[in-house]
Amino acid sequence: MPDIPLFTLTNLNFNYPGREPVIKNLQLQFYPGERIGLVAPNGSGKTTLFHLIMGLLKPTSGSIEFLGRPAVSEEDFAAVRQKIGLLFQDADDQLFSPTVIEDVAFGPLNLGCSREEAREISLKTLEFLGLSDFADRVTFKLSGGEKKLVSLATVLAMKPEVLLLDEPTAGLDRKTKTRLIEILNGLELSYIIISHEFDFLKEIAHHIYTMEDGKITLDEELYIHHHEHAHRVGAQPHKHI
Ligand SMILES: Nc1ncnc2c1ncn2[C@@H]1O[C@H](COP(=O)(O)OP(=O)(O)OP(=O)(O)O)[C@@H](O)[C@H]1O
Ligand SMILES: [Mg+2]
Repeated sequence: MPDIPLFTLTNLNFNYPGREPVIKNLQLQFYPGERIGLVAPNGSGKTTLFHLIMGLLKPTSGSIEFLGRPAVSEEDFAAVRQKIGLLFQDADDQLFSPTVIEDVAFGPLNLGCSREEAREISLKTLEFLGLSDFADRVTFKLSGGEKKLVSLATVLAMKPEVLLLDEPTAGLDRKTKTRLIEILNGLELSYIIISHEFDFLKEIAHHIYTMEDGKITLDEELYIHHHEHAHRVGAQPHKHI
């Protein structure tokens, strides 16, 4: 039997109050195991789409289903948010505690972990990301790239099944980007990653999608490039046309 989509967006429409529609009759089915890169111009609605999936914005019309069940009420989306981890485009929207460890522990505590469990999970997550030395740092004094990584730690500490990462490499240096590629490839998670960096996406995504006129589509041209790359590293034997 085929998998049930993790989420299904049907005829989704959205406009900010008093503004032209940003999302127009958008359709998307996202299945377990999928790893999608989303590349589209500034202002095309990528961040808006993530916020709709998380229930942070309400569609003007259309439906969102999570694991085959409609997600409508705040309660429905609270359940969705336990499964889907969103990395905000702006780390300052994600981080709000005085210290790094408190920020990372916030999610696990919220999910019902004891203080000791939350601390242990947080330290492990920081270690996994190579951020052990950051535990007691003051969050607002971190650099932009450091904040981005700590934001990712706050997301991973909640052990999500799906990741929605909004420009995770923005502000990261080359070495840290390489580390992020290793981390993502080492995780057994489904994800959609927004990025303007194709070189990054081709390392971590199976398919590249784009957004145009409020809709999401598979980007055939970028997909072909990804395919060539897969051949170059010998991941999949295939014929040239
Ligand atoms: N809170 C808001 N109120 C009004 N308009 C908004 C709001 N947030 C975003 N917009 C507008 O909605 C459109 C889509 O914005 P969105 O942030 O989703 O784009 P994006 O694809 O993520 O862009 P970027 O690549 O720059 O992050 C833009 O025209 C933006 O100006
Ligand atoms: Mg954005």
